[in-house]
Amino acid sequence: MRQLTLIAPAAAIAVLLAGNVMAEVPYRQTTPIIDYGAQPHVSDDRKHTGTYEHWKDRAKLNRDRVNSATEQWTTNWKFMDEPYNDTLHGGHEAEDRGRQLFTQLNQNGSFAACLGAKEGDLTGLRANHYPQFNRELGKVVNLEMMIEHCASKQGSTLMHGSYDNSAISVYVATYSNGMPINIDVSQGELKAAFERGKERFHLRTGRLNMGCASCHVSLPGQFLRGQGLTTHYGDAAHWPTYRTKNEMQSLHVRFTECNRNGGTQPLQIGAKPYVDIEVFLNALSNGYPVAVPSARD
Ligand code: HEC
Repeated sequence: MRQLTLIAPAAAIAVLLAGNVMAEVPYRQTTPIIDYGAQPHVSDDRKHTGTYEHWKDRAKLNRDRVNSATEQWTTNWKFMDEPYNDTLHGGHEAEDRGRQLFTQLNQNGSFAACLGAKEGDLTGLRANHYPQFNRELGKVVNLEMMIEHCASKQGSTLMHGSYDNSAISVYVATYSNGMPINIDVSQGELKAAFERGKERFHLRTGRLNMGCASCHVSLPGQFLRGQGLTTHYGDAAHWPTYRTKNEMQSLHVRFTECNRNGGTQPLQIGAKPYVDIEVFLNALSNGYPVAVPSARD
């Protein structure tokens, strides 16, 4: 009897512990993951929304000719990209500011070199150099993280997500204008980041149990708060962008806004899952030309 009284609580504790262990396994759901292939290309959208035909040729896009809400989403908002939107907007001001800051920081050429420019040439950095694995930092980084890192080496604080950081990013990206995005996610660190980013994009989180894909894969063509949801293919070539609510936004800042809209606590700008999602979205933009400064509603 005495033994039993000892065993019973012990058994109860064991059950409780086992229960706790199980409770520690996070409760997670994902939306169905479509087949992206090992090395995606922007034209794969033909198998997804099929809107690619409407925005692949930007020469045919002109803001004045896009009138209806349907045309807004089927053109993937590309009519607001350079050079076809000839209206001066905050993105052009940011480019000027970026040029100024870049010149100050790069007086001895080491800022450009730190960003990965060969002999000071910024061509292609935005289109085919980032995101990439950085040995010194031991992680996959994007252009804005490197701007912050390289500026700090000069004693300047240019936080990723800040106006001045985005301004330099836009300025650097102008040297890739017209060049197709080209990142290789078929091997190494970028493949791992791509796979993680793909998972994360489809993971449902937060009080509404929504993931990026709940909106961007399941709902293109539907309207949320007046914005027509578009395909997630070709979404990475125009960043940072000028939002017409008068804000210069880096890609990660857009992620925080989308997280909030979907009922999920945003992560920090530059957080690893955001970098992973950026790798994933960049891969889905492979082959689509860089266009900055762009604007978006
Ligand atoms: C509640 C729905 C919703 C969720 C969840 C959501 N988004 Fe969005 N997102 C939108 C809407 C609406 C827009 C504006 C229309 C568009 O471009 O599709 C947008 C725009 C974007 C854009 C800009 C597209 C452009 O052309 O400039 C990116 C990039 C983006 N979202 C990524 C994400 C990522 C990454 C996640 C998950 C972390 C996410 N979104 C979650 C609704 C959502």
